[in-house]
Amino acid sequence: MTEPLDRMTLTLTVNGRTIKVAVHPMARLLDILREEIGLTGTKEGCGEGECGACTVLMNGVPVLACLTPACQVDGAEVVTVEGLAKETLHPIQQAFLEEGGAQCGICTPGMLISAFYYLEHPECAENLREALAGNQCRCTGYTKIFSSVRKAAERLGKTIPEV
Ligand code: FES
Ligand code: FES
Repeated sequence: MTEPLDRMTLTLTVNGRTIKVAVHPMARLLDILREEIGLTGTKEGCGEGECGACTVLMNGVPVLACLTPACQVDGAEVVTVEGLAKETLHPIQQAFLEEGGAQCGICTPGMLISAFYYLEHPECAENLREALAGNQCRCTGYTKIFSSVRKAAERLGKTIPEV
């Protein structure tokens, strides 16, 4: 049977689990994650590509889920904040908890994903400040976020330049 033009069946892997969903081709990855798959960790801040709250990894690279349409996601591997923790919290999550790196929490999932990517790929930015430049936080003043990521880097045995 042919699919109606306003629906497409999407196959994607999210946090290691392969999932099929039928959605509009222009449905936002953010809504697919939150509403179709039930992973509400990824947050909507601005919905316009400005704040970074919706950052997830797609095929290993950070993307803004509020600007990523379903038609670009078919066959992709997506990692959300829920995918960072395994048996226990990821060291970055643990450090945010200990250092008070989250307050209202809206920016936190995107911040964690960007920090995770930076610690895996320190060559992607000059320093931590630049690595997190696409993630806005209206609560913390960034100091505790930076100290959280520094603590995680130390525990993971990664060296990152001073901010
Ligand atoms: S919600 Fe996507 S960048 Fe703000
Ligand atoms: S903790 Fe509230 S926006 Fe960052």
